[in-house]
Parts: sequence; C-alpha cells; structure tokens
Amino acid sequence: MKSIVLFASGSGSNVENIVKYFQNNSDVSIDCVLTNKKEAKVLERCDRLNINALYFNKHSFYQSDCVLNVLESLNPDLIVLAGFLWKIPQTLIHNFPNKIINIHPALLPKYGGKGMYGMHVHEAVKLNNEGETGITIHYVNENYDEGAIIKQAKVALAPSDSPSEIANKVHQLEYEYFPKVIEQVLMGE
Ligand code: GAR
Repeated sequence: MKSIVLFASGSGSNVENIVKYFQNNSDVSIDCVLTNKKEAKVLERCDRLNINALYFNKHSFYQSDCVLNVLESLNPDLIVLAGFLWKIPQTLIHNFPNKIINIHPALLPKYGGKGMYGMHVHEAVKLNNEGETGITIHYVNENYDEGAIIKQAKVALAPSDSPSEIANKVHQLEYEYFPKVIEQVLMGE
C-alpha cells in the first residue's frame, strides 16, 4: 500500500479530483490533507469525502517541528502540493528528498517564482497576450518553482479568454493529468 499526504490552501478541487481518482484503488491511500487556511473550502470537501484533514498556522509551519512530526508519523510515500501556496521550509525538503511534488498552473519557467500563484498567474498570462498556457508538475527543491519537471501539458488560448476562463482551461488540464502523474511517480514509472 502506497500512501499520499496532500497539502492545499484553498478550494481543493484538485484534492477532490485526486481523492476520487484513487477511491477504488486498494494500492493507494490518501492519509491526510494538511492546510494552512482554517476557512479553506478544502476542509468541507475532506469532511464530505471522509478524508482526514489538519490545519496548521504559520508559526507551527515555519517556527516549529509540528508539521515535520506529523509527516514523520504518517510516513507517506509521496507528499503532493495540490494548490498549496506557502513556500515549503528547508527542513521538510531535507527530510523528504524527492518525495514532494507540486503542480504549478503555468508552463515553468514562465510565470513562476514569488507572487506567481493562483489567479496572479492567469492575470499575468492574459496581460502578456499569451497564445498558450498550461501546467507543470515538478519535484520541490530549495528553489521556488525550480525542481525537476515531471510533466508539462499545454492548452491554446483565445485572445478573448479572460483570466478566469484561462484558469478554467488550466484546471481541466490539472484534473486530467495530475492524478495520473501522481500514480506514475508512486509506482516508480
Ligand atoms: C491550482 O490551479 C494550482 O495549480 C494552483 O492553485 C490552484 C488551486 O486550485 N497552485 C499554485 O498556484 C501553486 N503555486 P484548487 O484549490 O481548486 O485545487
């Protein structure tokens, strides 16, 4: 049995999609969802989906070993950042080498780095009149958005697409590819 821990900060639509993808797979379990937002919609989703969820605040994440201790006790095969918007502390990266992956809602190295998350990314893509955007699934290392790329997928944009239409297109790619890529990484393919 392979186990996954997910991190999320907001709506959690990717979390729900991943949970549903693995629901009937007896080789994979989603052991816990960790969130830094007490009011995040992802917590309601976890309730409905019967998934364990834990909230942590900034102090416990950056100034204590609280989250590290939780992760060590869960001992996951893979930690998946599914819409998690805080930088991962070095201690976690060092303790889980090559075991943390992230999804970024753009084609890295474009539209990556500090401040580039969620709708900010899609607004920047719109401002630059990009003809395409996409997703990047990558390992997390000490440099924000710079770990080795596992998978990218693209989608064409129309000049009339608004930032929220761009976000919708990107979400569709995320729902299609993220669970499959997680499965491949878990199975060592
Ligand atoms: C997703 O589009 C994900 O790629 C993005 O946040 C969104 C979360 O949506 N992640 C980042 O921007 C990370 N830098 P969701 O809460 O509906 O899954």
